[in-house]
Amino acid sequence: MDLKQLYQDIILEHGKSPRNFGICNEYTHEAKGHNPLCGDQVEVYLKLNKESKVENLTFKGSGCAISIASTSIMTELVKGKSIEKAKKLVVDFLNMIKNGTIIKSDELDEDQKTKMMSLSGVKQYPMRVKCATLAWHTLTSAMEGNKEKVNTEVLD
Ligand code: FES
Repeated sequence: MDLKQLYQDIILEHGKSPRNFGICNEYTHEAKGHNPLCGDQVEVYLKLNKESKVENLTFKGSGCAISIASTSIMTELVKGKSIEKAKKLVVDFLNMIKNGTIIKSDELDEDQKTKMMSLSGVKQYPMRVKCATLAWHTLTSAMEGNKEKVNTEVLD
């Protein structure tokens, strides 16, 4: 199987069966995001423990396959990380989507890197970049305790 097909399969699978869907118990942070161009919405629920580690991360929302897959993959990759590492993963992801940077993070194993890289092809489709980045910007907003809804139209 070539890499392009593998990446496509990962996106389709997460789009159809998103992981960590719903509202987790005792979340400590939450944020909402939307893409006004298509009306898609996402809400993320984050539970940080006393050591500032992401104990749980779930989401609700509706969107295209890319936005749902990206959100699902994000919850899987960020869960269990410290807040600093979670923020670093967001930066790595956005660099990959916008600049084509290869994911080299020591925080991820090979399978996890492949999952993250599955969204790298989005860079070639400017209209879909915001589909892939909506959840990650919304997660940043949740981690920073911002109350304002994330709007993809006012982001880079
Ligand atoms: Fe709306 Fe993808 S079309 S987020």
